[in-house]
Amino acid sequence: MKMPRGGRLFLATCLGSLFVLVLYFQSITKTAVEAGVKRGSRPGKSRRSPLQALYNGDQQLELLPAQRSLQDRRELLEQTCLSHTRKRRVLSNEDLKHLIVDDKHSLIYCYVPKVACTNWKRILMVLTSDGRYTDPLAIPANEAHVPGNLRTLSEFSVSEINQRLRSYLKFIFVREPFERLVSAYRNKFTRSYNTAFHKRYGTKIIRRHRLNPSPEALEKGNDVSFQEFVQYLVDPRTQREEPLNEHWERVHSLCHPCLIHYDVVGKYETLEPDAQAVLRLAGVDGTVQFPTSGKSTRTDEDMAARFFKNISPFYQKKLFNMYKMDFLFFNYTTPHYLRTR
Ligand SMILES: *[C@@H]1O[C@H](CO)[C@@H](O)[C@H](O)[C@H]1NC(C)=O
Repeated sequence: MKMPRGGRLFLATCLGSLFVLVLYFQSITKTAVEAGVKRGSRPGKSRRSPLQALYNGDQQLELLPAQRSLQDRRELLEQTCLSHTRKRRVLSNEDLKHLIVDDKHSLIYCYVPKVACTNWKRILMVLTSDGRYTDPLAIPANEAHVPGNLRTLSEFSVSEINQRLRSYLKFIFVREPFERLVSAYRNKFTRSYNTAFHKRYGTKIIRRHRLNPSPEALEKGNDVSFQEFVQYLVDPRTQREEPLNEHWERVHSLCHPCLIHYDVVGKYETLEPDAQAVLRLAGVDGTVQFPTSGKSTRTDEDMAARFFKNISPFYQKKLFNMYKMDFLFFNYTTPHYLRTR
């Protein structure tokens, strides 16, 4: 639908003010939930929401080590947000596109590509499918990514959004930023079947960042080196022209952890216990099992070190600055292999 400029501006202003409300209500809820807990209300065994399960007073007394570290991560994120964000921005509809909603189990999940998001989408399809799916691994990966198979928060009205942000368990899974980046590079640029990415990004990267490229490379874009990919990422033109692709966009830009107060921050490095904790809070740990790969993240670190060896300290530093907030927000230390000093 075409809208005159003034109309669009007006709409934007309206949406802007409404989303201020979102933030306002979110901060109230936390207090409400916690106050409820302190009064010692003991909800019946039957249907406790995941959010109540998380903030329930009884469990606080016997926090499992896993829960304790989830709480520490949440607090660290909150502290980092307080000390690093100057202006309080307001959420827009565009910001809610990565938030997947499960109304049946009161869950909101922000998906981050390259952090087990296919498996989380599969799980959420099982949970929201009314029994049509029971085994997450029986759902083909491409099916899990079809838009419309799952609902996102951006599809709801403002009051529906507020209500869900207030009462649902909001969770996110993150990963060491450079290991995620190397994983994205390997998946999108070194696999011959990913022709869409080669065409869309590869040809542009080679045109801009390779000296004397061959006509074939310019045409196919299928042999981008990690070095060229890094040059593309830190090139100021890249983000000026369009938003970064979600596979290498920073988690804080995809999921807005200072505006959406996540209740659980899970990590790829501890995927199994963290996923199990979320499923337990949702009361579905007996129904559905998170698919695990069984591979060690130790290998990911070695892999990242290997790829960064060929990157000059100049570009390492630029890249680190670009992803710095993801390191800070999610408590990842500066990789030992970086040569930025
Ligand atoms: C942050 O990381 C350090 C070092 O890895 C760890 O000792 C600490 O417990 C972490 N803090 C939180 C809040 O997760």
